[in-house]
Amino acid sequence: DRQPIVAIDGPAGAGKSTVARRVAKQLGLMYLDTGAMYRAITWLVQEKGISFDDEPAIAEVVSRAKIEFIDTSEDPAIPTQVWVDGCNVTEAIRTQAVTANVSQVSSLKSVRLHLVKQQQQFGERGGIVAEGRDIGTHVFPNAELKIFLTASVSERARRRQQDLIKSGEEGITLSLLEGQIAQRDRLDSTRKISPLTKAENAIEIDTDHQTIDEVIGEIVKHYATIV
Ligand code: C5P
Repeated sequence: DRQPIVAIDGPAGAGKSTVARRVAKQLGLMYLDTGAMYRAITWLVQEKGISFDDEPAIAEVVSRAKIEFIDTSEDPAIPTQVWVDGCNVTEAIRTQAVTANVSQVSSLKSVRLHLVKQQQQFGERGGIVAEGRDIGTHVFPNAELKIFLTASVSERARRRQQDLIKSGEEGITLSLLEGQIAQRDRLDSTRKISPLTKAENAIEIDTDHQTIDEVIGEIVKHYATIV
C-alpha cells in the first residue's frame, strides 16, 4: 500500500519549489524537484561541451548520469543540494546559462524517458510532494492531490529577478526575464512529449496576490481532505 502523492505543476517561476518544499516539510513527506533533474542534465551536457542539438550524445549522457539529492538541513530556507556524477551543482543549475537551454534538453524523448522512470521509482511508495510540469498528467497520474500553481508573467519575472539578485547575478532586466519566461512557457507548453498542461482534476491556485504562507496553507488544507 503506498502513501499519498501530492503533484504540484505549473509554469516557470510560479513558486513551485518554495511551496512544494515547505509543504513537504510541514506534512512530513519527501520532496522531489524534477526541474532540478532536467537542469542537472543540461548542466552536464554543457560541461561536456556537447551541442544541445546532438540528441544521440545527450541520450548517452542521461543514460549514465547519476543524479542525487542531499538534504543537509531541516530548515526549509536551505535548499536541497543537487549532485550529478559526484559534482555539487546546486548553484550551477540555477544560472542563466542552464535556464536558457533547459527547455530544449527537456523536450528530448530519451531525456524524458530516463528521468521520468527515475522519478516514478523515487515515488514508488508514495509519501512525496513532487513538483514539475508533467507530474499530475504523466509522472504520477494517480496522485491523490494535484495542484496547478500559476502567476502572471510579470509577477514571475519579478520573483526570478529577486532570486538572481540573491545569488549574485545582478543587472538582469525585468523585460529580459519576462521574455525568457514567456519563451520557456511557450516551449514547455507546446512540446510534443508531455507538455505543460493542467491535469483535469488539478486544483488551480493563482499565486499573484497570495503570500507563500497562504498558498501553503491552502494546499495543506486540501491535503487534510484526502488523508
Ligand atoms: O521547474 P524548473 O524551472 O526548475 O524547470 C526547469 C525546466 O525543466 C522547465 O522549464 C522544463 O523545460 C523542464 N521540466 C520538465 N518537466 C518537469 C520539470 C521540469 O520538462 N517535470
